[in-house]
Amino acid sequence: MALDAAYFAYIALISATGSLLFGLDIGYLATIYTNGHFKEWIGLENPHDPAVLVPSGMQSIVTGAFSWGAIIASSPLIAPTFLDNQGRKGTMFAGGILFFFGAAMQCAAVGTIHMITAGRFVAGLSIGLLSASIPLYQSEVAPAAWRGKLTSVYQLNITIGIAIAQVLNFTILPMGVWGWRYVIAAQLIPCAFMLFALPTLPYSPTWLIKQGRYDEAKQTLIKLRGEEAASGEFELLRKIDERDKAIGEPSWGDALSNPRIRSLAVVGGCAQLFQQLCGMNVFMYYGPQIFQSMALNPAIMQFLLSVTNVAATFIGIMTIDALGRRSLFMIGGICMCMCCFVAGVGAHYEYNMIHCACIFLFVVFFASTWGPTAWVYTAEIYPSKYRSRLVGVSTSCNWVGNAVVGMVAPLLLNSIETKTYFVLCATNILNFAYGWWVPETKGVDLQSVPALWDGKLPADPDQLSDARKTT
Ligand code: BGC
Repeated sequence: MALDAAYFAYIALISATGSLLFGLDIGYLATIYTNGHFKEWIGLENPHDPAVLVPSGMQSIVTGAFSWGAIIASSPLIAPTFLDNQGRKGTMFAGGILFFFGAAMQCAAVGTIHMITAGRFVAGLSIGLLSASIPLYQSEVAPAAWRGKLTSVYQLNITIGIAIAQVLNFTILPMGVWGWRYVIAAQLIPCAFMLFALPTLPYSPTWLIKQGRYDEAKQTLIKLRGEEAASGEFELLRKIDERDKAIGEPSWGDALSNPRIRSLAVVGGCAQLFQQLCGMNVFMYYGPQIFQSMALNPAIMQFLLSVTNVAATFIGIMTIDALGRRSLFMIGGICMCMCCFVAGVGAHYEYNMIHCACIFLFVVFFASTWGPTAWVYTAEIYPSKYRSRLVGVSTSCNWVGNAVVGMVAPLLLNSIETKTYFVLCATNILNFAYGWWVPETKGVDLQSVPALWDGKLPADPDQLSDARKTT
C-alpha cells in the first residue's frame, strides 16, 4: 500500500500548530513595547512620544518570564514526565491549554504589568512543553523516508508564526487603546483550533507500545505504514520495548550511570545549543535596531527578513531527506560563518548594502539548514527507552541558549557593535564541526538510529547485556 501523503501532511500541519504559537510569541512583543497605548497603560509619562521607551529592566523581566517558563517546562524534570505519562499528544494538549490561559491572562491584564509577566510565564511553560513534544511526536509517527520533511514542518510553522505576528503588529496594533490586547487575543484562534483538532490525530505508536496498548499500536501502524510494513515495525518496537522493560523502567540514576546515554545527552544538547549560539536570534530579536543603525526602515526590513525566513525554510524541507542532516549542518555552519565575516567587514567600512545583504543571506542559510535540522536531529537520535528524557535535555538547552543570546546580544551590540559578527563567525565554526562529526540519520528507521553511534560514543551497557542474553 502506498503511503498516504495527504494524511501525513494533515498530521504535520495540525501537530505543528503548536509551533505557530511559538513563532507568534517570539514575534509580537518587541513591537508592543513601542505602542503608545501600551506605554500609557503601564503608566509611562508622554507615552505617545516614540522617544519614551519601556524601561529596559521591565522589558527584561517580561521577556525573561517567557524564557524561564520555557526552560522550566522543557526541562528534564517536567517535559519527560508529561511525555511518558500523558503521551506525546497529551503533552501537546496540555501545552495548548496552558497557552490559552497564558494569552488570556495577558490580554485581560488589569492594573499593573504583573499580570502580563505572569501570563508570559504561563505562555513560556506552554511553549516549553510544545517544543519538547511536537518534533518527538512527528518523528515517531513519520515513516523513515519522510521523517525529516515531516518534522521540518514544525520549524516552518515557527517562521510563519513570527511573520504573522509582524502582520498583526502592522494591522491590528494601531487599532486604538485596545490594539495591543487584540494582537494577543488573535493568538487564541490558532490555539483553539489546535485544541479541537489534536484529538483527531493518531497516537504515537512508540508510546502506545510503551503503555502496553498493543492492539491500538498495531492499528495505528497499519494506518501509518500500510499492512505489510506495519507488522515488521510493530514486532521490532515490541521487542525493543520488552527488552527495555526487562532491564527495568529507566530512572535518572540509570541514565546518568550509562556512559552512552550521558554522551548522547551532551551531543543532543550541543545540537540545540549551537542552533542558538549561531546567532539567528540576534537578527530575530535585535534586527530592528541593526536596520535602524543603517538608516533603513526597521519595521519593513524586519518583515522582509521574516518572509525570507519562511521562504528559505522550504529549501530545508525539500533537501533534508535528500542531502541528509550532516550536509545541512556543515553547509549551514560554513555559510553562516562566511555571512558573519563579510557582514562584519561590510559594517566596518559602512558598506550598508553588503552588511544588509549578508544579514538576509544568513537568515536564508539558517532557515534552510540549522533551523529545521536541529529539531529533526534531536527528535531522532535517542534510543526509545530514554527518548523523552533526552528530548527534555536538548529542548531545555535550546531555551537556555535562547535566553543567553537574548541577554548577551544587546550587551555585545552596545559595546563592540558590529564586531559582534566576528564572535558569531567563531560560534559557527563549531556548527560546521558538529555536522562533520555526527553520523547521518537520513532514511534510517528510528529503531536502528542508536546503533549509528557505535564506535563514536562509549558502548551502551543495556545493549551489551542484551547481546549477552541472546548469545
Ligand atoms: C529557533 C528559534 C528561532 C527560530 C527562527 C527556531 O528553530 O529555535 O529560537 O527564533 O527558529 O526561525
